[in-house]
Amino acid sequence: MCGITSYVGPRDAASVVLDGLTRLEYRGYDSAGIVSFDAGTTTTLKRAGKLANLQSAMAEQHLPGHRAVGHTRWATHGRPTNENAHPHVSEDGRLALVHNGIIENHAELRNRLEALGHVFTSETDSETLVHLIEEHDEGDLLTAVQEALKQVEGAYALVVAHAEGEGIVVARATSPLVIGLGDGEQFIASDVSALLPYTDRVVYLSDGEVAVVNETAVTLYGPDGAERSLDVDVIDWDADAADKGGWPHYMLKEIYEQPTVLQNTLAERFNEAGDDVTLDLTLDPATFDRIVVVAAGTASYAGMVGEAFLERLARIPCEVQVASEFRYAEPILDERTLVVAVSQSGETIDTLEAVREAKRAGAKTLAILNVRGSSIAREVDDILYIHAGPEIGVASTKAYLAMLAAFALLAVWVGRTRGALDAERAKAWIEELRTAPARVEEVLQRRPAVQDAVPLLDDARGVLYLGRGVNVASAFEGALKLKEITYLHAEAYPTGEMKHGPIALIDAATPVVALAPEGRLHAKTLSNLQEVRARDGRVLAIASDGDEAIASHADVILTVPRTSELLSPMLLAVPMQLLAYETAVRLGRDVDQPRNLAKSVTVE
Ligand code: F6R
Repeated sequence: MCGITSYVGPRDAASVVLDGLTRLEYRGYDSAGIVSFDAGTTTTLKRAGKLANLQSAMAEQHLPGHRAVGHTRWATHGRPTNENAHPHVSEDGRLALVHNGIIENHAELRNRLEALGHVFTSETDSETLVHLIEEHDEGDLLTAVQEALKQVEGAYALVVAHAEGEGIVVARATSPLVIGLGDGEQFIASDVSALLPYTDRVVYLSDGEVAVVNETAVTLYGPDGAERSLDVDVIDWDADAADKGGWPHYMLKEIYEQPTVLQNTLAERFNEAGDDVTLDLTLDPATFDRIVVVAAGTASYAGMVGEAFLERLARIPCEVQVASEFRYAEPILDERTLVVAVSQSGETIDTLEAVREAKRAGAKTLAILNVRGSSIAREVDDILYIHAGPEIGVASTKAYLAMLAAFALLAVWVGRTRGALDAERAKAWIEELRTAPARVEEVLQRRPAVQDAVPLLDDARGVLYLGRGVNVASAFEGALKLKEITYLHAEAYPTGEMKHGPIALIDAATPVVALAPEGRLHAKTLSNLQEVRARDGRVLAIASDGDEAIASHADVILTVPRTSELLSPMLLAVPMQLLAYETAVRLGRDVDQPRNLAKSVTVE
């Protein structure tokens, strides 16, 4: 949430920072700004609205210098206006900063600073920081920042620079910040994807660390003020992976990457006999009797599918808890509970706090993650990476499928180690899993059928998504995809629950997307669809190849290859992603940057 990029080095700093912001716009896109520092002066440009507004302004006004700090905002405190956009600059115009996170005691600090004569020009909590640092500034920016931060409560990734001097000071508490190391130049970003074209050598800041970044050196200090050595990581994503590469939208590109992503998630994770998995985990499944999955949004729906994998294949009790509620719900945890945190970004604050709650209670923690070096990665006992590559579209697609694959592997690992899954059954499941990339590819080739189906949603007042068994989770995920990028109301229910209330919604303006793959609940699903049609409801069914019975129960039919019930969520997700995408395009929505949303929710 909110993106930061900064640069110090020989290049035109503002251009590098602007380029970085374009790569981070998915983190927030309601206003943006850059400040550059040149020969003792600062030049600041801020624009409400999308980054394009700042880009146009920069075409008119040059921001000179070899040091610059930029920000793209997702508003928390204060509306998206020029005044509330970052950078925030001190009254004398010489000190400027950008901030991600929330300063919880900002009101109290602001009162104190106003009493000392500071004049605020925005409604943001972030502006407090610039006045606070200015108050402590006696010529040494590092000390001023360290002193100021002693009074701050809350989360921050902070980048601050002064017109005098040559460096940039950065600090982190909870909100992510990474320094990209170059030769005679350095880059700073809230997210590695901004750095990919420039360097693959990075230093992730830890909580409480402060660093001074100069052209030729990065000096890191711990929370106690003592200097620390740099722990340099190498990013294994290639720069092209974060480009749109000719696709009209990142979301579509990422939907089409899914076969490759699945291959990557599964690669080198099976034993030679093909009846077990080889996961690089240190946890011992004999040391836990119960699994609690914590996650948000799409990741939590992946967790619901994961619950079915774990319970049916590994016969271990599993439950999914929405991360934002978890730590307030007095969760029942002990040292024989494994808490699995699922997160694409690894930065979702609710999920991170759920991990902390689990650790406080003595539970073991495992994370299913995409982004290396992320905050959750630093706090859990073990990590299962999904290897999905950078996901830029705000609506999560490829990460979801990769999370399902990771759960499929985890279920085998837990089941085999605990003796609940025999070699024969494991082998059959693994063989089927291995077909997932090709089958997903096949579904992708059926996009024209989805395009033909889109008019069914014309004039829809709302859409009901129905699924049974493991595909209750699929229905939730399908409904979320539709609502977040089309702004159409969509709700998901277990198909059998429809008659307990939601059936009252059924009419010609409320189409139903029915997940009806073959399997033990198929006949029951068909009778529920009859109930919809008897009430003038229109049905878009997603069924298995060769299903002849479905024809008389649906207005529009999309098909997926035949699979077991457990694998079906991977295939059913694809037409629902495409349906949401095509509908959003038809409605003229901003697919990659839907209103009010931002990728990676780092505030509670
Ligand atoms: C929906 C979506 C969100 C995220 C959720 C968790 O398309 O993208 O619901 O799934 O915010 O994000 P991560 O996985 O980064 O923790």
